[in-house]
Formats: sequence, C-alpha cells, structure tokens
Amino acid sequence: MLNSTTGKHPEEADSQGRRQYYEQDIPLALSYDDILLVPQRTTVASRREVDTATSLSRNIRLNIPIVSANMDTVTEAAMATAMARQGGIGIIHRFLPIERQAAEVRAVKRAESFVIAQPYTIGPDATIEQARNIMERRDVSGLVVVDEQGKLVGLLSARDVRFVRNPDLFVHDVMTARQRLVTAPADISLEEAQEVFSKHKIEKLPLVENGTVAGLITAKDLAHTSENPLAAKDKRGRLLVGAAIGVIGEVMERAAALLDAGTDVLVVDVAHGHADSVINVVEQLKERWPETDVIAGNVATAEGASDLIDAGVDAVKVGVGPGSTCTTRIVTGAGVPQFSAVLECAAVCREAGVPLIADGGIKASGDITKALAAGASTIMVGSLLAGTDESPGQTITRRGQRYKSYRGMASLSATTARRQREKELSGIANQEEDEWLSQVVPEGVEAMVPYQGPVREVLLQLVGGLRSGMSYCNAHNIVELWQNARFVRVTPAGLRESGPHDVVLD
Ligand code: XMP
Repeated sequence: MLNSTTGKHPEEADSQGRRQYYEQDIPLALSYDDILLVPQRTTVASRREVDTATSLSRNIRLNIPIVSANMDTVTEAAMATAMARQGGIGIIHRFLPIERQAAEVRAVKRAESFVIAQPYTIGPDATIEQARNIMERRDVSGLVVVDEQGKLVGLLSARDVRFVRNPDLFVHDVMTARQRLVTAPADISLEEAQEVFSKHKIEKLPLVENGTVAGLITAKDLAHTSENPLAAKDKRGRLLVGAAIGVIGEVMERAAALLDAGTDVLVVDVAHGHADSVINVVEQLKERWPETDVIAGNVATAEGASDLIDAGVDAVKVGVGPGSTCTTRIVTGAGVPQFSAVLECAAVCREAGVPLIADGGIKASGDITKALAAGASTIMVGSLLAGTDESPGQTITRRGQRYKSYRGMASLSATTARRQREKELSGIANQEEDEWLSQVVPEGVEAMVPYQGPVREVLLQLVGGLRSGMSYCNAHNIVELWQNARFVRVTPAGLRESGPHDVVLD
C-alpha cells in the first residue's frame, strides 16, 4: 500500500530485512461510515429511470448489483432462487458434501426454466406407487411417460395419481396418452409457447423431436418468466447461480460436480485470498475450464487484486474483515477498512476490465451506493439477507421478537459443525477431539438477526435506496456512478448527524 500523504512506499528494508516506518508512512484507510457521497445537480427525473444492471464477472450480467453470501446461514437453493428471480445472484456455500452442494445448484437450475431440458420420466409399465415416489422425491407435479427408446407415450400428472387406491393399476392406465396431448417442437420460442398455453389451457407442454422427448415447458415456469421481468437468467432461461469452492482437498472434484450440476460461476473463497494456494487453484480451474467464469478472493490490496487478475480470474472479491460477524481484525490484527480496500482494488480491476465484488460490511442501502461509487460492480451481503424466509434455518422467538440465526463461517459453531461432518465421513477418533478443539482459533461469531420476511421485500428496499443514491450522484447507471461520484470525509460529529438524533424513536 502507498502512503496516502507521500504517495510512496515505506523506506526500503535495511540490511536485516526490517522496514523503518515513520508515522507519516502509515496510510489512512476509511470505512463506509467515514465518507459520504456529495449530492450533485441531477438530470435523473425519477428513480425508475435509473438502470442497476451490472457485471458479476467478465461474462455474467445481472440486473441488480446484489450477491448473497456463500455462508451456511445465508445461501442454499431457496435463497439463490429468490436472488436470481429479483435480478441478482446467490452463491451456494461450500460447507456441504459435494453431492449435496451440487444438488442445491441443480435445484436452482430447475426452479425456473422456460424449458426443462431433461424432465423427469417414467415408463408406462411402472406402478402408480413408483410414480408417486418419484414425484415426491423430486418435488415435481408431473412425469413424462416414455418408452424404452425415449419416445413420448404420455403425460402423468400428480392429479392423475392422487386418488388412485388400486395397487394393480399402472402408469399407462391413468396417464394422458400421446394422441390426446398437445406437443411442440424443441425450438419453440417463449412467445409461441405462451400462445400454445393460452389457446389450449394446458399445464404442461412436452417438446418432441422425431418422436423423442426433447424437453418440457410448464405453465408455472412461464408465469414466473413474466412475473419477474428482471430475473437473472442463462441462455436457456434458467436462473443464474454460483457455487463456492475452497483450496484444499477435493477441489477439482467439487468444481467438476458443481459444473455438471449447472453452476454458472465458481467462487474460490478463502479468508486470505492473496495466497499462492488460491492462485494455483484459479490457474488450474482456468486451464481445465477456460470457458467458465471464476471469481476469487478475498483480497484487500491492489497487489492482491493484481495477482488474482494475473492468475486469470473473471472477478475479484474484496473484503478482509468488514463482515458483521467477522472478528478477523480483532483476532489477527490484519485487514483494511472496506471503503479504502474497494477504492484501491478498483483502480487495478478497472484497468484490467475485471469486475469487483465488494464483500461484507454493508449495513444499509447507502453503503451499497458508496461501494459501487468506489468502483465495485456488485456487493455481497450476508447479515442483511440472513433474516429472510429464504435463508436456511428456522426463526427463533426471543422476548416477543422473531430472529434467525446468522454465523460467521470461521466462528466456533461453524468450524465445529464442519469438523463433525468430516468426522462422520472419515471416522476421526473421539480422543483427538479435545486436542483439536483446543487449537481452534475462531475468526467469527454466532449471532441472530431480526426476521425480515421474504427476500423480495428486502431487495426492494435496498435497490430503492440505491436508485435514490444514484440519482443524488446524477448517475443513470453504474458506469455513470463510477464517473460522477464525489466523496467527502466525515467526522464523528458528521456521522452522528447522519442518523436519527435528538428525537425519541418510536
Ligand atoms: P456481512 O457484513 O454482509 O458480511 O454480514 C458477509 C461476509 O462476511 C465474511 N465472513 C467472515 N469473515 N470471519 C470473517 O472474518 C467469519 O467467520 C466470516 N464469515 C463470513 C464473508 O466474506 C461474507 O461474505
């Protein structure tokens, strides 16, 4: 880092490798609360004309700049689905066995698609019981009936089987047979599909190519498509999703399983991302899957961002210690206040054309505007989303208030839970436990956050605040925000003035 006053690095090291620091060599670093955006004459007439579209990574576009954190109390399939429906994205956390993490990715990719490429199928001679089991296990309301060659022979809906009590009946006895089905060619467009559904009043439309099933369109998925016009989707109309991986153990195996499940992006996620191990993994991933976008982090310096970019990342994740449950800075003494970290890394990222994700420390929508204005393309949040219906876990009631639990991934409870899973898999002996526990040094805490209702409503507030913030900066879009933003530093008195004060809050 450069000295903010002299613009120079500290003096060269002496013969024993020590650097001589003077007070003026130590740069000042700022957090979101230390600055404000300067209001400017604006041509933005209404918040509605502000465009929040942005890049998550080199090849992935989002419609809102918000990413849900890869934490086990924040993002699994339900959260990632809700995030993508609103135009953002969720990153499925990695603290799950490979197959379970891949299943979460698969669930998002299947949640909504204008075309389900590989619908669940059943043979005509299967029993009704077997059909019910598949529908229940896969959580689907219908099965495509195919013969041994994959030719369409009928459609079986949950309604067809619901009241069947006769154990001697088979799928072919109750299904809607091929001759009575409306079908369509595999390359049907969204508009054409909408027409077919409204003309025939059907629930499901099998797609057929040379008599073989080539996909399925459901009325529910079509409705979602028009309900959420800003949804972040891939080319096949499926919701976007990302998945996190680490750097030790079965990393490439996990990456392969996640890609097979359909993840759109891999996030190499390590607390101290400016590390040889991260650089090696990024290089390996880019060599094996050059077409896949890889994000890596977390870093907090220009050097860190630059080294990850040289390794081939498609976005850099920035943030060492700003998170609401983080104790890294207290426990280790290391970190950089987040506003300065973003500002410094953004200069390098901008030069290389690589998007920056500002991860952690966002307390309110104003911080989102500040992070983007500092040069981020998106922000990652944990605490602000952990209290929603879609985060994993139950609500807790304390003294009449509803909460959900939220924990740092380096907290004692998250670390112990991971150990428990490893133990189950590898049969670690119990006597090793006490010694292991005494060596754990947590860098995060367990906490609770107020229950917030559906993600959609939280995002509406956050994006509404951001749009307003952008209009104060005369920015119609995020690129204009980068160009136009001007900052002032605030004093503790200024910060006090910024919040409600000298009133009695209800
Ligand atoms: P917020 O402020 O949105 O931050 O709750 C979410 C981010 O916090 C990071 N994170 C941690 N950092 N110890 C840390 O130092 C931890 O235990 C921990 N868990 C999460 C992470 O970057 C996340 O996206």
